Amino acid sequence: MTTIRQTSGPPATQILGVGSYQPERIVTNDELSQIMDTSDQWIRDRVGIVERRFAAKDERLVDMAVEAGSKALSDAGLEPSDVDTVIVPNCTMPSPIPNAAAQVADRIGVKAAGAFDLNAACAGFCYALGVASDLVKSGSSQRVLVIGAEKLTDVVDPVDRANAIIFADGAGAAVVGPADEPRIGPVVWGSAGDLVDTIYMREHKYIYQEGQSVFRWATTKIAPIAQRAVEAAGLSLADIDVLIPHQANLRIVEAIGKKLKAKGAREDLVVADDIVHSGNTSSASIPLALDHMRQKGRVSSGDVVLAVGFGAGLSYAGQIFVAP
Ligand SMILES: CC(C)(COP(=O)(O)OP(=O)(O)OC[C@H]1O[C@@H](n2cnc3c(N)ncnc32)[C@H](O)[C@@H]1OP(=O)(O)O)[C@@H](O)C(=O)NCCC(=O)NCCS
Repeated sequence: MTTIRQTSGPPATQILGVGSYQPERIVTNDELSQIMDTSDQWIRDRVGIVERRFAAKDERLVDMAVEAGSKALSDAGLEPSDVDTVIVPNCTMPSPIPNAAAQVADRIGVKAAGAFDLNAACAGFCYALGVASDLVKSGSSQRVLVIGAEKLTDVVDPVDRANAIIFADGAGAAVVGPADEPRIGPVVWGSAGDLVDTIYMREHKYIYQEGQSVFRWATTKIAPIAQRAVEAAGLSLADIDVLIPHQANLRIVEAIGKKLKAKGAREDLVVADDIVHSGNTSSASIPLALDHMRQKGRVSSGDVVLAVGFGAGLSYAGQIFVAP
């Protein structure tokens, strides 16, 4: 019988470094209220956003991903040649080919990288982190650069007050590599395809969503999924130091935190609120929040982080990791 050799990798993985990038231009709620019927107060009250960043016209998703990815590599103390695979979770590439990952890998200097984009909308980063960890453990990759990057301003009607107030641009990255002890837990993922019509983008034009249906789904379904990710890692909610839900809406983030505290998470659980100054950056929001929270000292090396992404699909994914 033909014997096909199998690869095998290290028993465990870890995040070795993180990095992020935001465009220069800060857009306040007051600026938006000059071009659509909204107000600073309405936006703060309903979604918790104070300001967000919009990319320049000629600034591409790939450009932002290169910046974030390069910073993650230097945070990890690695060279491009130390990485063999690049994954760019995103849902806003202007056209499906060529993918972002091959361009980003080439620009960063990762030679002959395994390179692919992954689209699970706002759940993309957690999906990609799960895939990256399994690629390393299986021996298919040595180290993987995961870069959530989005230029949502390309796909949002600039005067649609239901969406233009929420979405923003940016990129966040993590390098995944081998570890002696497990520092990334199993990914818990899934989808609710019966709700596929609640967030959609037709013919690469603009995003539309049924805000209230998405809000209800996120505030009821995501906390139990986050809890499953904790159980899958063999931990309890009391072990969690930091919660980083996808930064969709501050009210959703707070509701998830409250539910997890009611189920046993500690009162001093640090809950990410990066959306306040970054807006909703889809696949980029979790690594962007992680990097900003490290810079501000809200996340320290060794902290146990629970991340959970959710969005169009509707898709969701979550896992535990130890902060680098
Ligand atoms: C989009 C969202 C902010 C809208 O808030 P909401 O409270 O559900 O608002 P509604 O759509 O029910 O509208 C309520 C009223 O506010 C108005 N409104 C909507 N957007 C507005 C805005 N930006 N400024 C001012 N008023 C606004 C509506 O026209 C409506 O007015 P009416 O009562 O006179 O008809 C909210 O539903 C939400 O955040 N949902 C989750 C979306 C999300 O996170 N998506 C990303 C998932 S990855």
